[in-house]
Formats: sequence, structure tokens, C-alpha cells
Amino acid sequence: MSVASLGEVMFNNCYKGRRVLVTGHTGFKGSWLTTWLLRLGADVYGLSNNIPTTPSMFEALGLESKIKHYVADVRNFDAVSDVVNEVKPDFIFHLAAQPIVSVSYREPVETISTNVLGTANVLEALRQYNMSCCAVIITSDKCYDNIECVWGYREDDALGGKDIYSGSKAAAEMIIKSYFHSYFSGSDSKIRIAVSRAGNVIGGGDWAKDRIIVDCIDSWSKGEPVVIRSPLATRPWQHVLEPLSGYLLLAQNLAEKPDSFHGESFNFGPKAEQIKTVEQLISDLAFYWQDDFADGKCFEVINKHLFHEAGLLKLCIDKAMHKLSWQPTLTYEQLIEFVGDWYKKYYQGAQDMLVCTNEQISFFENNFSLLVK
Ligand SMILES: NC(=O)c1ccc[n+]([C@@H]2O[C@H](COP(=O)([O-])OP(=O)(O)OC[C@H]3O[C@@H](n4cnc5c(N)ncnc54)[C@H](O)[C@@H]3O)[C@@H](O)[C@H]2O)c1
Repeated sequence: MSVASLGEVMFNNCYKGRRVLVTGHTGFKGSWLTTWLLRLGADVYGLSNNIPTTPSMFEALGLESKIKHYVADVRNFDAVSDVVNEVKPDFIFHLAAQPIVSVSYREPVETISTNVLGTANVLEALRQYNMSCCAVIITSDKCYDNIECVWGYREDDALGGKDIYSGSKAAAEMIIKSYFHSYFSGSDSKIRIAVSRAGNVIGGGDWAKDRIIVDCIDSWSKGEPVVIRSPLATRPWQHVLEPLSGYLLLAQNLAEKPDSFHGESFNFGPKAEQIKTVEQLISDLAFYWQDDFADGKCFEVINKHLFHEAGLLKLCIDKAMHKLSWQPTLTYEQLIEFVGDWYKKYYQGAQDMLVCTNEQISFFENNFSLLVK
């Protein structure tokens, strides 16, 4: 008789042998989620229009050979519907998006069509899918109307968004809500959906442009100090595994508790003490690269604002803690170590990155099991 792993225990073994479709699986979060689902024994299927960066975690881990990989654009309804009908998923995690605020300023219509129409297409494909499926739709903490208040936003706070990316995620939320009330809210619905909101996720394996950690790693790997703006901006930093554990718990709960969570939204943010300034985070992470610089100075600060950036955005995570028994578990020091170690190993070519990623997931599962269950 096989013994269930800690991860399988953590999610009540609900993914083993199940068909799971991840949209945006070639991206940063999608690659981590795919790796974790494979550990949990799921049959993983991915839908993305491309591999968005070079290098990429998707390629570094050789994920294409471990899953069924569909190249499709979420803006194309027929393509999305064909994949859903072919895969016949038990679970969908919808992550595919244009997720970069600065890009949304340059490409507003593309951002809106990917994030809003893409989400509508996934929901419409689900509406026409005649089988049971639990779907977690990933939006963002930026979907809230950010009035720069000092307390955390709660799931029932007003949605908004002053930049195009944030507005697109708020609009996607509206579409999800209307699909839920129009088609999925009945007790006989085979489709069960929930929404997840998280933000400023960091971790090894991200190479998307215009993200602060990626900018650092990009410069440091070339032996150059990084230039940072808005050093005093505070962000709710968290490791990518924290919200992913929330997504997995949420989908598990949707599947196991037919009377709960359907149509609901959940915030997955860090503990208040993990809110640090950009400068603090970079100083701590730079420890891993200081030997590469003669004066140990890996960054310099300029005060140059290219576009509107929210000053403070915190999430209230009481609902996820209370209803899902979820909580962020890594300390700030562990977060820095995870990120620094992953990239350092990648650039040194010192370790198989699939092994390194699995070690971090294994540590996370262990930590979570000790602290939460
Ligand atoms: N990374 C963060 O800090 C963060 C914070 C809050 C919310 N999110 C959300 O999490 C999700 C994943 O973000 P990420 O950081 O992994 O982004 P990413 O850019 O690394 O990955 C995006 C993925 O979406 C796919 N994609 C983009 N446009 C597509 C299209 N038209 N059709 C099909 N696939 C398409 C890409 O190929 C890629 O697989 C997004 O919905 C994003 O908005 C991310």
C-alpha cells in the first residue's frame, strides 16, 4: 500500500489521477502550479499561447514533456472550447493573462481582450461543457478600488482600478460574477467556480519584464547593479507557493463541499509583518549576489516615476484563514532564501532546477503541515 505524501495529505489527495487544466501554464505561476500538481499525481493539461519569456521556468524544468501542452489563445473562443472538450477537466485553474501593469499602458486593448474576453471565453466554454468541473479563476489584488487605505481590502470591498491592468482584472471579476449568477448559481449546476485574488508574488523562475525582482536578477546575472525607482513603495511580498496553496485548497473545497464557496472570492495575501519596502527587499536579496560586486553595492536608486503606481495595497486574509484553514506560512527570511537560492542555482548551473523546485515545494508542504493542520 502506498503512503500518501505530505502534499497529498494537505489537499486530501483530491488531485491524484484527476484531469487538471491550467491556462497560462507556461508562465511563472503556471509553471510552479503545474510542477506542484504533477507532484500531487494529477494529469496536467496546459493551455497558453506561447512561452512568454526566455529563459523560462517552463523550459528550465522541462515541463512540456511531462504534461499535454496546448498552444491556444484565450481570446479565441473556439480554441478554448476545443481544449476544454478534449481534456474534459475535473479542475481548471485559469491564470492566462497579460499581467504586467507597464505593458497594459502600452497595449491597453490587448490587455483588456486577453484578461476580460479571455476570462469570458473560459467561462463560456465551461457553460457549454456538459460535465462537472471546479474552476478557480485568478484575478489580482489590483482588482480593488485602491483608495490607499491603511487597512487590508476585504472580499466585499469595491472593485476598481486606475490603470488598465487593474481595470481589466476588475472587469474580469464583473464578468465572472455575471456568469455565476446567470448560469452557474443553481443547485444543479455542474460547474462550480471561485475567484482568487493575490498580488506581488515573487519566487524563482520569473523572468517577466518590469517586475522588480526580475529586474534585479537580470542585472545581477550580468554583473550589473540594478537601478530601482520608488524605493520606499511598500508591497505585500509573498512567495508564489503561498497563493498557489490557496488556489489548490480553494479548488479542493469547491469539489468536496457542494454547499460552500461556489461563486465566492478569496484573498491570499501575506502576513502584515511581511510588508516591506522595495529597498528592504532588494537589500536582503542582494546578499546572495554581493560577492559578484567589488563594492558589494548591487543596486542604485533613482526617483523616476514612469506611470501611476499605487502606494499601498494590502489584503485582508481573514476569510481564507477562517473558511479554508489557509494561512501564509513562510517567514520573510525563508521567502528571501527561496528566491535567492533558486536564481543563484539557475545561473550557476549547479543543480537540476526541477529538483530544486521540488525541494522548495517539499519544504513548503512540510512547513504548511506543521503550522496549519
Ligand atoms: N505574478 C504576480 O505577481 C501576480 C500578481 C497578481 C495576479 N497575478 C495573476 O496571476 C496570473 C499568472 O501570472 P504570472 O505572473 O504567472 O504571469 P506570466 O506572464 O508569467 O504568465 C502568463 C501566462 O499567460 C499566458 N498568456 C498570456 N496571454 C495569453 C493569451 N492571449 N492566450 C493564452 N495564454 C496567454 C502566457 O503564455 C503565460 O503562460 C495572471 O492572471 C496574473 O494577472 C500575478
